[in-house]
Amino acid sequence: MAKTTLAAPAEHSAEWSPILQELESLRRKVAERAEFVEDLAHELRSGLTFLRGYVDLFLAGTLGPISDKQRHALEVMARRTDAVLHLLDQMLSLERARAGHLELSPAVDIAEVVQHSVQSMRVAADQAGVQIEVQCPPCLLVEGDARRLLQVVDNLLSNAIKFSYPGSKVRIAVSDDGDEVGISVADEGVGIAPEEQQRIFERFYRSPRGSGKADGTGLGLVIVRAIVEAHGGRIWVESELGKGSTFHIALPKRQERARSAP
Ligand SMILES: Nc1ncnc2c1ncn2[C@@H]1O[C@H](COP(=O)(O)OP(=O)(O)OP(=O)(O)O)[C@@H](O)[C@H]1O
Ligand SMILES: [Mg+2]
Repeated sequence: MAKTTLAAPAEHSAEWSPILQELESLRRKVAERAEFVEDLAHELRSGLTFLRGYVDLFLAGTLGPISDKQRHALEVMARRTDAVLHLLDQMLSLERARAGHLELSPAVDIAEVVQHSVQSMRVAADQAGVQIEVQCPPCLLVEGDARRLLQVVDNLLSNAIKFSYPGSKVRIAVSDDGDEVGISVADEGVGIAPEEQQRIFERFYRSPRGSGKADGTGLGLVIVRAIVEAHGGRIWVESELGKGSTFHIALPKRQERARSAP
């Protein structure tokens, strides 16, 4: 999203001036806060990654033999450190998504984004005993940021796998819906109660029904929604408790431009 320059209509410039100054000062404060969060998260991230590396060295026995008790303690440390690292990554992603900075490419093929994401989720799906089915026509193009769109599909697929039962299926489908490209991710998992279907898009909200089952920070869907909206798209969910959930995304299709002669 480009930075908007605030300007008053010429005939009212004197009345508008203090309001615009106030808005400009607020905009600067928001930008400074975002920068501060980003710097802080980066610093914490590098420190923790360093510590995490030492935990791995201990666990691998590189620094000498360890007892079972020590192994157990180190494994707990590794898990807790991974959870904080994940939280920091999600916070960084959220700050970037909210700032709306997109690296726009004129033509991102959604089929490629989906295939890429499915490949990277295969291991997690196998571990959870979940089968992923893909239905994806080639060459549905949107103007957008390929990396951020990949993050959107990754988050939805990761949720679908996380909240599925072993032996069930996750279906991801891409469709040509006129002016929009549709992406849906459907699972046969735990489902979301009607009263929670809006709340899951709030920061840090995690359903008490699912959170015991799986790790997470409750920021994934906030990031997803911010990225989808920065692309001018929409996201919504349909779900039934105990039956499963389908997340839908609609993204504006790339406008066909007059082609120059080859
Ligand atoms: N496919 C799904 N099936 C059932 N519940 C879901 C599904 N997707 C999301 N939820 C519910 O919405 C909550 C918020 O999801 P979100 O992706 O924002 O966070 P998370 O997955 O818990 O953590 P994170 O994505 O930050 O690692 C989840 O904790 C879960 O309760
Ligand atoms: Mg998630």
